[in-house]
Amino acid sequence: IELTSTDLQEILAFTTALARKAGDLILRGSEAILSSGNVDEKKNSVDLVTEYDVKVEELVKGELAQKYPGFQFIGEESYAAGSRPPLTDTPTFCVDPIDGTTNFVHGFPHVAVSIGLIYKQRPVLGVIYNPFLDQLFTGAKGLGAHLALRGMAPKKLPLAVPRPLPSLSQALIGIECGSDRSGSIMEIKAEAYRKLAGDPKAGVDGGRMAHSLRALGTAALNYAMVAQGSLDIYWEIGCWPWDICAGTIIAQEAGGLVAGSHSSPLDNDINEPILNGRKYIVIRAIGDTATEKGVDAQKRLIKDFYATVG
Ligand code: IPD
Ligand code: CA
Ligand code: CA
Ligand code: CA
Repeated sequence: IELTSTDLQEILAFTTALARKAGDLILRGSEAILSSGNVDEKKNSVDLVTEYDVKVEELVKGELAQKYPGFQFIGEESYAAGSRPPLTDTPTFCVDPIDGTTNFVHGFPHVAVSIGLIYKQRPVLGVIYNPFLDQLFTGAKGLGAHLALRGMAPKKLPLAVPRPLPSLSQALIGIECGSDRSGSIMEIKAEAYRKLAGDPKAGVDGGRMAHSLRALGTAALNYAMVAQGSLDIYWEIGCWPWDICAGTIIAQEAGGLVAGSHSSPLDNDINEPILNGRKYIVIRAIGDTATEKGVDAQKRLIKDFYATVG
C-alpha cells in the first residue's frame, strides 16, 4: 500500500470523526465508572484499567478494520490481550483508547483517545481528542498540526510564534510518575525531578532550576501541550508506542523535535524503533525551526537537559 498526501487527508477526516465518537463513549463511561467505582488493576495497584478502556478500543478497532481492511492495528488493550503484530511497512494504526486512565477514574479532565498511523515505521498521522475539554489535536506528515476547540475554526500549531528559550531554567517541563514504579525507573525520575526543581540537596546550582514541572497524567496530551507551545519539554521513561505515536507526528508538524534516549543521536525524527523505544523527550519549536539555528537551539537544550538530570 502506498499512501499519498490525499490519502492522509482522507484518513485524517475519518479518524477525526472516529475520535469524536470514541470521545462520546469516554464521556458516558466516565459517569458510569465514577458512580460504580468499577476499576481493575493490571501489573500493579497503580496500573488501572476499566471496561471502557476495552470498549473504546473495540469501537475504534472495529471501525478502522472495516474502513481500512489492509491496515494493521496495534492498541494498548489488544496488546495486553495478546494481539502483538510485528511492525512492518504495512500502514499500521496505533491506538490508545483512553490515555490517562488514572485521570479517567478520578474525574480529572485530562483524558484523551489517541489514534496514530505508522507508515514505513514512522508516525505519519495523529489525532488526539480530549472529550472533557473538547480539544481536538491533529497532525499529518506535510500537512501541519492543528487544534480545534469547541465550535471554533481549527488553529495552526504552535498557537503563537515560537518564543526563544534561552536555557532550561526558563522552561516549563512535563514529567510523569507513570505506572511503572520499579526502583530503577523511579530513582531516575525522582532524581531528575529534584534536580530540575532545584532541590539544593540534589547538587544543581539554584540558578539553573526550571520554571516549574507539570504532571498532566497523559502522555498524549503532554505531547499536544508541547505542540501547542504550552510545555517547553516533556520527558518520559516507560512509554509505549500507543502513548506517543499520534503525539509524535503532531509535535513534529508543529516544529517540535522528538528524540529517544540519552544515547540516541538527535534528529528531527523519532530515532529508535517506535515499538521498543520506551524513552522519549520532546521539545517545542524554538525560534524558526525551519532554520538550522532553531533546530540547534532545540538540540542544545536537550543536551543541557540530559546534562542536568544526569
Ligand atoms: C499512561 C499515561 C501516563 C504516562 C504513562 C502511560 P494510560 O497511559 O499516559 O501519563 O505517564 O507512561 O502509560 O495507561 O493512562 O493509557
Ligand atoms: Ca494503561
Ligand atoms: Ca497511554
Ligand atoms: Ca490507555
